[in-house]
Amino acid sequence: MRRGVLVRLVAVGLAAAAVASAVAFFVPWLPTPASKQADRIDFVFWFVTGISIAIFALVVAVILYSVVRFRARPDDDSDGAPIHGNTGLEIAWTAFPAVLVTAVAVVSAVALAQNENLPKKHLQVNVLAQQFAWSFSYPKYKGLTVSALHLPLNEAVELKMRSKDVIHSFWVPQFGQKQDLVPGITTKLVITPKRLGTYPVVCTELCGEGHALMRSEAIVMKPTAFASWVKAQERAAAKASQGPSGGGPGLAVFNSNGCSGCHTFKPAGSTATTGPDLDNLPADARRAGKPLSAFVRESIVDPNAYIEKGYQPNIMPSTFKSLPKQQLDALVQFLIGGKK
Ligand code: CUA
Repeated sequence: MRRGVLVRLVAVGLAAAAVASAVAFFVPWLPTPASKQADRIDFVFWFVTGISIAIFALVVAVILYSVVRFRARPDDDSDGAPIHGNTGLEIAWTAFPAVLVTAVAVVSAVALAQNENLPKKHLQVNVLAQQFAWSFSYPKYKGLTVSALHLPLNEAVELKMRSKDVIHSFWVPQFGQKQDLVPGITTKLVITPKRLGTYPVVCTELCGEGHALMRSEAIVMKPTAFASWVKAQERAAAKASQGPSGGGPGLAVFNSNGCSGCHTFKPAGSTATTGPDLDNLPADARRAGKPLSAFVRESIVDPNAYIEKGYQPNIMPSTFKSLPKQQLDALVQFLIGGKK
């Protein structure tokens, strides 16, 4: 190859690499990682991106050079030269990609194995997904159940995830991982949070009409703040169980069925806004023209019977009609809080 050709190829290749690198680095494709697993995923991403930029530059250089150098002149009707391949080139373009693909596979496999590795000392959180809410419970803390995922910084957490109805998928972009929740089986995910903050929990599997509303939060706290949060939750639960509303069993039903994932209700300490604010139930019952207790019961077992203004039908799960009567009674009692 003449020296001038090589210089031109390299120049075009460098220009293409510069453009591709600018697109890769100056567009914020990925959120800032907030877990050790996300760091490893980012490493694989940039490893593959680096290889892609190099190959892109090579291909663009060869294509542009060939288009210019070997273009047919307007009056050129002659046949092309009879070329029968180039054994050296063919070996190179087979072997080189094989090496690259193997490298990508090895790097990915190592990252995946490390991300699935669960240290002996870890916190377990049980995740329950249902149309269209998340609930998170902590076996270590007497089954404490909440609608936002609270995690201590730098401690490995194992999520054991189940779905009550259809396939959902757990995703916190800053944690870098996605995992489906499939009815009938328990799936797992290991997270080691490394950055304080509040991140979105997103359902990333189309699971029904309320899919877009199936959101929560992952809150990474300092270990001391996490410990006092747990204490405060336990105190609140103990207080509710002694309250005049008989919150104990009712509160447990409320939390374990994910009600707190969608509704604000002061006695339960929940602040979600997907569904109507349950502190306003007496007023809602009046608007619906029904006695409070009957209205609340109907709204649980047949959510579409009355839709509060500003909300849509078919968002609340209609699965609660299968609640055992005892649990349903306790829940209704808890929600009406001793009122008639
Ligand atoms: Cu659950 Cu989408």
